[in-house]
Amino acid sequence: MINHDAFFDHIERSYLKQWSSHFHQVLKNEFEPEKHGDFERWNNALTQLPNLGSLTSAFDQSAITVTPENPLSEDDLQELKAALLALHPWRKGPFSIAGVDIDTEWRSDWKWDRVLPHISPLKHRKILDVGCGSGYHMWRMCAEEPSMVVGIDPSLLFMMQFYAIQHFVGQQSAYYLPIGIEQMPKNMRAFDSVFSMGVLYHRRSPMDHLIELRELLRQGGELILETLVIEGGLGEALVPSGRYARMGNVWFLPSPDTMILWLEKCGFKDVRMVDCAPTALDEQRSTEWMTFQSLRDYLDPGDTSKTIEGYPAPIRAVFVATAAK
Ligand SMILES: C[S@@+](CC[C@H](N)C(=O)[O-])C[C@H]1O[C@@H](n2cnc3c(N)ncnc32)[C@H](O)[C@@H]1O
Repeated sequence: MINHDAFFDHIERSYLKQWSSHFHQVLKNEFEPEKHGDFERWNNALTQLPNLGSLTSAFDQSAITVTPENPLSEDDLQELKAALLALHPWRKGPFSIAGVDIDTEWRSDWKWDRVLPHISPLKHRKILDVGCGSGYHMWRMCAEEPSMVVGIDPSLLFMMQFYAIQHFVGQQSAYYLPIGIEQMPKNMRAFDSVFSMGVLYHRRSPMDHLIELRELLRQGGELILETLVIEGGLGEALVPSGRYARMGNVWFLPSPDTMILWLEKCGFKDVRMVDCAPTALDEQRSTEWMTFQSLRDYLDPGDTSKTIEGYPAPIRAVFVATAAK
C-alpha cells in the first residue's frame, strides 16, 4: 500500500524527471519506517481497512467525503471506525468516510476557506505543500484540478493517515513524500505554487526557510505562507523564551509588517497579507479523534487572550507572494 511508484510514474512524464534519482536516493536512505516503534501497529491498521466496493469522493466540501453505493451496516461502521481510530491522534481534517465522521482536532477547512479565495487558480499547476500533515489540504487542492500536488512531511503517522484516506479515494494527483524540506533538491525552481502552512514558526531560521521556499518555486510562481503572528509594528517579532502555547519548538512570531519585510528581503514581490485572525477555541479542540490536550488547555484559564505562558494568544495570518527571481 505504501510505495512511491505513482509519484515516480508521474514525474517521469514531466520536467521533474531530472530529479527522479535524487528522490529515489532520499527515499531509499531516509525512509526506514520499520525503525519507528509504532509503525507495525499503524501498518496493521492500514491493512485492516475494509474494501468498500464502488465509492464516490468529494474534495470540494468541508469534510473530504467518501460515499459508498450502499450504506454500511452498523457492524461494518463500527469496524471501520475502530480501524481508523487505530491511527489516533487525527489532527488535521475533517473527513467523512462511508458514514464515519473523523472529527479531527483542527477544523482545517476553516484555514482553507481563509486561503483559497486569495490565491491564483490551482488548475494545471504543479503544487508543493511543505509540512502537509495528514494531507487534508492536498485533497482540497485536488478539487481545483492541479497537474500534481506533492506533499512533504517527515511525520510517519500523518503519512499513514494520508494512505488511509487514499485507500478510499483512490490514486488522485496527490503524492506524499515522508521527507523534510531540507531533503528536497537544492534550487529546484520547479513548482508553480508552494504552500508553507503552520511551518515557519517551527523553523529555527525563518529567513533560510523563506529562501528554501523561493528556490523551490519557478520564477513568477506563488508562495502561500500561513503562520503565527503577533500584533505590532515593523521590525517587531516575538521570540518566546521557553514554550509558546505549550509548544517547545516555536522560534519567531513576527508582526505582519515584519513578515512582509522578511518575504521581500528573501526575494519575493507583490507580498500581501490576505487574512489575519485569532485562532478560535472551536477551530482547535480535543475530540474523540484527538483525545489529548488542545488549545483551551494552552491558554490562560482566567484570560484567554493570553497563552498559559503569558504571551499573546495565537493569531494566524496568510501571506501571498510571487517569487521574484
Ligand atoms: C502545524 S503542522 C501544519 C500542518 C498543515 N500544513 C496545516 O496547515 O494544517 C506542521 C507540520 O510540519 C511538519 N514538519 C516538521 N518539520 C518539517 C520539515 N523539516 N519539513 C517539512 N515539514 C515539516 C510537521 O510534521 C507537521 O505536520
